[in-house]
Amino acid sequence: MLEILKRKARSFVYYRTPTGEALTKVYDFFHHFKYSFKESRISDKDHLRYYLTKHYHIIEKGLALPEPRLGFGQPKVRDVIEKAKAYEVEYGDDELTSSIRKTLLAYQEFNKKNNFDLPSDLKLLLNSFIGCAAPTGIGGLKQVCKETASPINLAEFSNFAKSRVSVRDFAPEPVSEALIYASVEVAQSAPSVCNRQGWKVYCHTDKLKINEILSYQNGNSGFTDVIDKLIIVAADGKAFTKYESNQVFIDGGLFSMNLMLAIHAAGLGACPLNTCYPSFLEKKVKMVASVAASDRLIMMIAVGNIKDEYSVACSARNPVDDILKFF
Ligand SMILES: Cc1cc2nc3c(=O)[nH]c(=O)nc-3n(C[C@H](O)[C@H](O)[C@H](O)COP(=O)(O)O)c2cc1C
Repeated sequence: MLEILKRKARSFVYYRTPTGEALTKVYDFFHHFKYSFKESRISDKDHLRYYLTKHYHIIEKGLALPEPRLGFGQPKVRDVIEKAKAYEVEYGDDELTSSIRKTLLAYQEFNKKNNFDLPSDLKLLLNSFIGCAAPTGIGGLKQVCKETASPINLAEFSNFAKSRVSVRDFAPEPVSEALIYASVEVAQSAPSVCNRQGWKVYCHTDKLKINEILSYQNGNSGFTDVIDKLIIVAADGKAFTKYESNQVFIDGGLFSMNLMLAIHAAGLGACPLNTCYPSFLEKKVKMVASVAASDRLIMMIAVGNIKDEYSVACSARNPVDDILKFF
């Protein structure tokens, strides 16, 4: 009885008073403060990976400018090599350090091709780092031609994007995990700040667990039982620096949209489900759904096979003129 009263009082405070909103903002702040990284003080492996990704990508995108400055970014190149070496000593070489090598090789070739003489100690540093493992990873630049830059036109994309709708009535056949896997692989093409890719996907397949998780979600009533797989999109608070507190939701949101489009292209039905939780419920849901403590919840996606025929809400859009202003 006392427990029920306590829960009711807490829900009242969190949902109906400004104090509740303030407490959730305090949670936002402390979560970000606890898990984000300070660039001058990196000790954790995940932070080091995100740091390296951010900084080697800065070199990579510098090479993609219309006229990259010869010899640009030398302090950054030194820093990336020093940290990548330290990473390899501790954790060995992997796809990340291979992409760094590929990028540094492109940097070296760019300067060589343009007859820019890098300082000899940097040349040695580059040679010794690049040379000590074959750079098989993906990194540096790739060429794109105008004719093939986009495989579809706006009318085709319009047809596809506008045919995606929130589905709340699914067929009973189970969704293939291979299709979810393939959709997630496509969704990874989403852009993210300095290519950080802090997103995570937790796909629940057990009906009882799905129902338990959804018992904490306020937008699934009436179709809970027809949901076959429940995807939770989260994003890792560790992926961001102290100055990027809102980026977790931006990158997570972009990834989620890409994932919904990929799921749609896979011929499945999906409905986004909000994770607008007050802090105490976010913690609870993360625990129930085995989501890492360092992650923030972005949204859930209910997935199922589509029926031969089904109804969806029209969800009319506002006129473009209401939202677009040219200056
Ligand atoms: C972040 C997010 C959370 C949502 N949460 C819910 C939800 O909890 N329950 C639900 O039935 N629909 C939910 N929706 C679906 C919206 O109602 C729907 O996307 C909107 O009406 C546009 O319709 P469409 O998706 O069919 O284009 C959510 C959508 C988004 C983007």
